[in-house]
This record gives sequence, C-alpha cells and structure tokens, in this order.
Amino acid sequence: MHRPRKHFLVTGGAGFIGSAFIRYGLKHNPQCEKIVNLDLLTYAADLRNLASAETDPRYFFVQGDIRDEALVEKLCVKHEINAIVHFAAESHVDRSILGPRAFFETNVGGTLSLLEVVRRQRHVHFHHISTDEVYGTLTRESTFSENSPHRPNSPYSASKAASDHFVRAYAHTYGLSTTISHCTNNYGPCQNVEKFIPRMIAGCLHRKSLPIYGEGINVRDWIFVDDHSEAVWLILEKGEKGNVYDIGGECERRNIDLVHSIIHEFASLKEENPKDFISLITFIDDRPGHDFRYAIDCGKIKQELSWRPLHDLSSGIRKTIAWYLENPDRLEIS
Ligand SMILES: NC(=O)c1ccc[n+]([C@@H]2O[C@H](COP(=O)([O-])OP(=O)(O)OC[C@H]3O[C@@H](n4cnc5c(N)ncnc54)[C@H](O)[C@@H]3O)[C@@H](O)[C@H]2O)c1
Repeated sequence: MHRPRKHFLVTGGAGFIGSAFIRYGLKHNPQCEKIVNLDLLTYAADLRNLASAETDPRYFFVQGDIRDEALVEKLCVKHEINAIVHFAAESHVDRSILGPRAFFETNVGGTLSLLEVVRRQRHVHFHHISTDEVYGTLTRESTFSENSPHRPNSPYSASKAASDHFVRAYAHTYGLSTTISHCTNNYGPCQNVEKFIPRMIAGCLHRKSLPIYGEGINVRDWIFVDDHSEAVWLILEKGEKGNVYDIGGECERRNIDLVHSIIHEFASLKEENPKDFISLITFIDDRPGHDFRYAIDCGKIKQELSWRPLHDLSSGIRKTIAWYLENPDRLEIS
C-alpha cells in the first residue's frame, strides 16, 4: 500500500494525451486535489484543449520547459507535488525523420532533467509515458509485452527508448519511485491534424486527398485516448513502484481498413455516400524504415489493475469524428 497521491505535476498537458488525462482526472478522480500543468506550448500544444479545466480551482497552468530544472523543482516544492506524470515530448515520427536532434533534446534531455529533480525531491513518484514503438516492429502473429526487448527503429522511438532506459537506471541506481507505461496508437478529440486519424477526417471534410503510406497494409493497434487516461490514473493509484505496464486498445487494423472505417462513419454521420470519399484515397511513397506492425499484450494491466479498454474502434471513431465536426477549426490542413 502506498500513500494516496493527491498533487500531480503533469508535463506536456496542453498536448493531445496530456490534456485528455487532465480532463479525465479532474472529472473522475476524487483523490485528485491539484494538477499543475507544465507545458512549453510548442506547435503541438493547444490551450483550447483545457478550456473546461480553466475555472477549476484544482488546476494550474505554467508555461515552461521540462529542461528547466530550477523551475520544475520550484513547482514541486511550491505545490507539494506527490507525483510527476511525464507526457511532454516531441511525438511525431515523420518530424523525427526530418529532424532527429529536437527529439533527442526534448525526449531524452527533458526526461533526464525531470529525473534529476526527482533525485533531489525523493518523495515524488515519477510516471513515464512511453510508447509501444520502443519495441520495434512485429510480423503477423506475435505481440509485444513488458518483457520484450527494446529495438527502436525510428529517431522518435529511439529517443523514447533512451528515456525509458534512463528512468529504469535512475530507479535502480538511486532508488527512485518510478513506473513506466507503453501505449499503442491513441486517437480521440483534440489530436493535432498532422496525425493519421484527424488527417483522414480533415481530408473527408475538405474533400482533399487521403494520403496513405505504401500499400496501406501496415498494422497498428488503436486506443481511444480516455481509455489510456484511465489506465494511467489506475497505475498512479495502484501500480507497484518499479513496474512497467503495457496498454493496448485491442483494436488492430491495417491502415487501409482503418481509412475505410473512418469513411464509413464519416459518411453515415453526414448522411452522404461513402463512395464519394473512397476516390480520395491516395497511396504515397512509404515512410523510410516504416515499422510493419505493432501490437501489445495488455494482460498484465488487465489482471493486476482490473483495467480494460471500454471503446471499440467503431464507437471511438464515431465519437472522434463527431467532435471534429463540432470543432472544424481543428481540421485546417495546409
Ligand atoms: N500519440 C500517440 O499515439 C502516443 C502513443 C503512445 C505514447 N505516446 C506518448 O504520449 C506522450 C504525449 O503524446 P501526445 O500525442 O499527446 O503528444 P503531443 O505532441 O500532442 O503533445 C506534446 C506536448 O508536450 C509539450 N512539450 C514539448 N516539449 C516540451 C518541453 N521541452 N517542455 C514542456 N512541454 C513540452 C508540447 O507543447 C505539447 O503540448 C508522448 O510522450 C508520446 O511519446 C503517444
């Protein structure tokens, strides 16, 4: 049994998943007395994601860099933080291929700075948000689990894998209280239009091309962002120090099949003919080093923490499209 954690420092809380996590905690977690959101507000951030939190007296926003150790330490002391939940990152694989250094600096350097603060503020628990992409690629049959070796293939996943190793090493060497979660691809409201699902919804809305890498046969597992948020809150509440948890949506799809599902749901919500959108599908040159398949065995978190994903792909995609249709300004593509 550990002491209940009540005061949280969330990094990257103005991004897609961090903001969903904050909204979820304020709404559903009675233990949550304070959330301090530290975010640099890069291109990926959007404070509109947190409009519903702004009037909540438990919520505080600070614009700043996770690499600013003095600032992070000051926030931990001032707000009597019990746990850091670390979402802040450069998160887009395509950008990491164009410019890997920023990924190293934020994802590795930033995580190291936070760990240095926790080394001085030893009562603070550190939860690290990582990705299934650290495990590398799979063929058709197998799945990844917490015991799979790290074999990252993109600069993004290499930076996340390196940060995982630093978390593990700090826990082992300095005895810090840490947990790590690896999650599959998230989707839901408030995701930046550069990512796959909002980009496809934007294409349908604006009748622009729906670009798909290669032949569209790469496979991803998809999780609705609130299911991920719930899993992380459960880990914070009940997860054992030093543990790693893999989180999956149990919704594996080939990219091309996912696009057909999006088209189907979009056309049904707009009462239009799906055939009008299928002609927008455009196959483009494959991403360099594109991983073929990711899939997670999330048996451990299901068994130990009684978590399971509540959304199937169809209900999650429908909710997501409905949200974007109410917020079409989030779908502007250049
Ligand atoms: N999106 C996914 O499908 C997915 C899946 C598994 C894991 N993850 C991980 O989840 C986390 C969040 O992903 P996301 O999709 O919400 O990312 P995002 O790009 O939407 O948001 C990242 C946030 O981090 C902030 N940030 C960046 N650098 C910062 C810095 N130096 N200091 C403070 N804040 C900074 C940005 O301003 C932004 O608000 C990342 O660690 C990512 O690796 C994402």
